[in-house]
Amino acid sequence: MKKGIIAGLALLGVVALAATGCSGAADASNKGGSGSNGKVITVGFAQTGSESGWRSANTESMKDAFSAKNGFKLIFNAADNKPENQIAAVRSFINQGVDAIVIAPVVTTGWDDVLKEAKDADIPVILEDRTIDGSSDLYKAWIGDDFKKEGETAGAWAKTNLGDKATNMVVLEGTTGSAPAIDRSTGFSSAISGTQIKTLDSQTGNFTRADGKTVMEGFLQKYGKDINLLFAQNDDMGLGALDAIKAAGLTPGKDIQIVTIDGTHDGLQALADGQFNYVVECNPLLGPTVAKTVKDVLAGKAVEKKQTATDQAFDQEQAKQALPTRKY
Ligand code: AHR
Repeated sequence: MKKGIIAGLALLGVVALAATGCSGAADASNKGGSGSNGKVITVGFAQTGSESGWRSANTESMKDAFSAKNGFKLIFNAADNKPENQIAAVRSFINQGVDAIVIAPVVTTGWDDVLKEAKDADIPVILEDRTIDGSSDLYKAWIGDDFKKEGETAGAWAKTNLGDKATNMVVLEGTTGSAPAIDRSTGFSSAISGTQIKTLDSQTGNFTRADGKTVMEGFLQKYGKDINLLFAQNDDMGLGALDAIKAAGLTPGKDIQIVTIDGTHDGLQALADGQFNYVVECNPLLGPTVAKTVKDVLAGKAVEKKQTATDQAFDQEQAKQALPTRKY
């Protein structure tokens, strides 16, 4: 994608949310917890875990938005990226009789039973960040980023820069079964279709630096200097891979070109330093929009079912410009 177009599309550090879905029926009862009647709203938030810099920024944004000064009592749970922990946390929120539940689902599947339980208990559910495969009747709204488009943008960069010469790629995938891992893979693959980019290997690095490093070490042992391109599905895995690449005596950004997704401060710094070649943003600052949606749902107002954050993408010069004011 052209620099100018990307820059024109986005506002740095701002979560500009475009409402793209149909309007959900806002039929949740207030149960005495709405900010509109001055009472504290109790919200259970089932976070994935603390796997990445992106996740830390997202947790902070949510905690700030669901603060006591904004009229909330937040019950926070981080599931260590284990789906069974997360479902247990949601059941516990239901048993505690919270006013609303917010979930950043670790994986897309396995949600029907517990979301039906929340519905039977008349507790509205709002999805944050990641999507699920279940029926959309089971939640009031989803607020997050367009993961497929992020993959397409990363793939479009690879196509433009490497697509017309024989290129061997390895992929560090996110958490298996998670919406970003699935959708980023789909988007990237469709963007490079018909090019000379060949996938040598693709394995999960669980969105963490440690696993990104370990899996990249394995790729390097197996394919050595044949690797020309790394698609890391988040910054942290790409940052972990840098250590492995340097330890193998290769120069990241030159011997192996690297495209990542997230746009954290550390990711943009690696891009500014010439170790990454392109970074696609995934905006984590979703808290204010999620908190407003929770209040609206509890107040019986109609809300947009699908609320998508605006993301941009960075080349080296854009990263240098963005870094001094980068919020996460
Ligand atoms: O769901 C968003 C993804 O989850 C981010 O890209 C990644 O860093 C995080 O762990």
